[in-house]
Amino acid sequence: MNETIQTQPIDGQKPGTSGLRKKTRVFMEPHYLENYVQAIFDGIGGVEGATLVVGGDGRYFNDRAIQVILRMAAANGAARCIVGQGGLLSTPAASHLIRKRGADGGLILSASHNPGGPDADFGLKYNGPNGGPATEGVTDKIFARTKDITAYKIFTATDADLETLGESTLGDLAVEIVDPVEDYAALMETLFDFNKIADLFKSGFTMRFDAMHAVTGPYATAILEDRLGAPKGTVINGTPSPDFGKGHPDPNPIWAKPLMDEMYGPDAPDFGAASDGDGDRNMIVGKGAYVTPSDSLALLAAKAHLAPGYKGGLAGVARSMPTSGAVDRVAEKLGIACYETPTGWKFFGNLLDAGKATLCGEESAGTGSDHVREKDGLWAVLLWLNILAETGQSVSEMMNDLWSEFGRCYYSRHDYEDVDVDKAHAVMDGLRVALPELAGQQVEGLTVAFADEFSYDDPVDGSHSAGQGIRIGFEGGGRAVFRLSGTGTEGATIRVYLERLESDPARLNVAPETALAPIIAAALSLSDLKARTGRDAPNVIT
Ligand code: G1P
Ligand code: ZN
Repeated sequence: MNETIQTQPIDGQKPGTSGLRKKTRVFMEPHYLENYVQAIFDGIGGVEGATLVVGGDGRYFNDRAIQVILRMAAANGAARCIVGQGGLLSTPAASHLIRKRGADGGLILSASHNPGGPDADFGLKYNGPNGGPATEGVTDKIFARTKDITAYKIFTATDADLETLGESTLGDLAVEIVDPVEDYAALMETLFDFNKIADLFKSGFTMRFDAMHAVTGPYATAILEDRLGAPKGTVINGTPSPDFGKGHPDPNPIWAKPLMDEMYGPDAPDFGAASDGDGDRNMIVGKGAYVTPSDSLALLAAKAHLAPGYKGGLAGVARSMPTSGAVDRVAEKLGIACYETPTGWKFFGNLLDAGKATLCGEESAGTGSDHVREKDGLWAVLLWLNILAETGQSVSEMMNDLWSEFGRCYYSRHDYEDVDVDKAHAVMDGLRVALPELAGQQVEGLTVAFADEFSYDDPVDGSHSAGQGIRIGFEGGGRAVFRLSGTGTEGATIRVYLERLESDPARLNVAPETALAPIIAAALSLSDLKARTGRDAPNVIT
């Protein structure tokens, strides 16, 4: 039976770069999830007759939320929901399914790399028919709806069976349960030389993939161990758990420390990798050689043609503004365009759709290509494996070659989390006011070459995005970028991105902290960050 429930507008904070993220208990409040789902349905112009892909990263409340979404899709007249078995779909796999099945969109349940559990985080995002995150225009409509919603529709029924593959119905809605891995794995097989990678494993090449108790476990096990023949145990923490084993499923040296310890230890495997909660981020680490996401993007751009899916070369590359300029130099040598976009994957969508860029990446461990419209953790790992199999080189040999050719972009990001919102804005405002006067100034022994606030004119649809981060460049090739996070769930997070290009062959292997020390000092002095926030040090350094 379809019911219409009267309701009231929700405290609907504007969905950020990856949908709406809140504390799980907020999503579990009476009518909260329902209101937001109805706002999405209304915001996209209704779902009458629509086909939707539904799945999430398996975190606490994933299964309950899917039952609500299915019953609301039924009551709102949707024709079909394609759901990953057990309610699981990685973000890239969902993006692929939307595209492959010609769906009208998808609802992806995840708070990405944020912890899961009743006292942790939950999230929900809508992806459009191109498989990518909702555009700014759609997001605005959804947000507007959260503020004037008065009722939602829901079908009264017992729970749908999410475990059995095949089709059932909820009222007039067809609920189709699909294997979450199958289509994705088939796509990967079209892009990469699976035989070559299998031969690499046969030759004794060793690898550790840390799925961090999150959604890529089943994907990595099926692809790396079952199809490519990597020994059992190559994938660790491979069973998705509602609280990610009480961990923080963020693939960086801090949260993936056990993997880092192994890769820097005496029995390190040849190659290490990790992925986040919903499977769109990746970390790459060789034997004793962590690869920054910015460097990984540059390396992949330089060598992608070695994989069958990219053998014709790249149309162009794109990176988010705070990502280091390493890929720019590779693109220049390849003679292809390099686009600089605001933070957030949605800005890459137009470039990918228009065929202007083939590879994209962000410093926050996101890399991807035009095969889907999201970043894709396991895809990046497979591209690395394909390149390693073709070159026969180790990770550190490849990185050293890249740095010798293009110089090394030392890079680090300092995050100041849960800062008082007013204080965080004071830091940004202070910088903003100072910007016009900064060029030419001496700070901590460096000279400011330029200072501005980044804005972006989309070359495809002409849209303009202002206020996308403050960047300060120094003479000699250094840069500091300041921006406020759009994905946090508590207070404000100030991100300070630090970068310095080193071309002296004798200084390509110093500790990044040492190489970046002058930039860090200048960034702190220019922003007056410690005094303005009362913080002595960042919470997380990646
Ligand atoms: C963060 C990352 C950004 C990424 C986003 C979604 O956003 O910095 O690169 O696209 O998560 O995964 P932020 O919190 O900085 O707004
Ligand atoms: Zn993610």
